[in-house]
Amino acid sequence: MAQVSIEDQSGETTLITLRIARYNPQKDDSKSFMEFEVPAQKWTTVLEAILDVKKNFDHSVAVRYSCRQATCGSCGMIINGKPRLACFTKISELNSNVVTVEPMNNFPIIRDLAVKFERLFDTHHKIKPFLIRDDTELETDAKEFLQSPEELEQYIQFANCIKCGLCNSACPTMAMDSSFVGPQALAQAYRYVADSRDKGKNSRLKIIDDSHGIWRCHFAGSCSQVCPKGVDPAMGIQFLRGYLLGFRS
Ligand code: SF4
Ligand code: FES
Repeated sequence: MAQVSIEDQSGETTLITLRIARYNPQKDDSKSFMEFEVPAQKWTTVLEAILDVKKNFDHSVAVRYSCRQATCGSCGMIINGKPRLACFTKISELNSNVVTVEPMNNFPIIRDLAVKFERLFDTHHKIKPFLIRDDTELETDAKEFLQSPEELEQYIQFANCIKCGLCNSACPTMAMDSSFVGPQALAQAYRYVADSRDKGKNSRLKIIDDSHGIWRCHFAGSCSQVCPKGVDPAMGIQFLRGYLLGFRS
């Protein structure tokens, strides 16, 4: 096991074992794990521990990240068996001295912890993630399409999606059906259908009304449990079914 040396910092430091999945599909038959002993303080995040390893021991570990503040959606991975954002997960909250990081499930692996996002962005694009209107100009002296607080409340929670893919990684149906549109895209379909400014409801409902669309969801609910931004894809899917079954308008 490799031990990483970093300068002492104030506060209590615990040594933890960081197990990093290594896999290069170009040359490896299967995934393996490398173990590193890294110091962690109360606020050390899993991403910081991985970056310590890259800086001090093995720079070849592949990991995607950018904002380090749960905004860009880049650093999703499986941490101790659960899809999480590495920059938003403190080691201290895992209650374990052994932290295992693996690439997200249901995404093709590029290398180590980095995965391909093509399927997520294809399905996101498929549901038309933008406001659809027939009119192209505002009426007379109006400056914006106004909404009441109640109208905003219908969808605002769903607008928090950062496209991290954790929901798709947690979804058992994504694993079984490679054509399933997935919870991320369905949640965003609801986000626009429920927006009072949007006029694309019928075209979006037509897109998701498919055996690989909304009806493929078995309502496991795991998508909503792992979302770091409080989006509830499972609830959005039920609301969308309400439109299709005539319970909502
Ligand atoms: S719904 Fe939540 S978990 Fe899914 S992509 Fe958006 S932010 Fe990530
Ligand atoms: S680095 Fe941006 S969400 Fe984690």
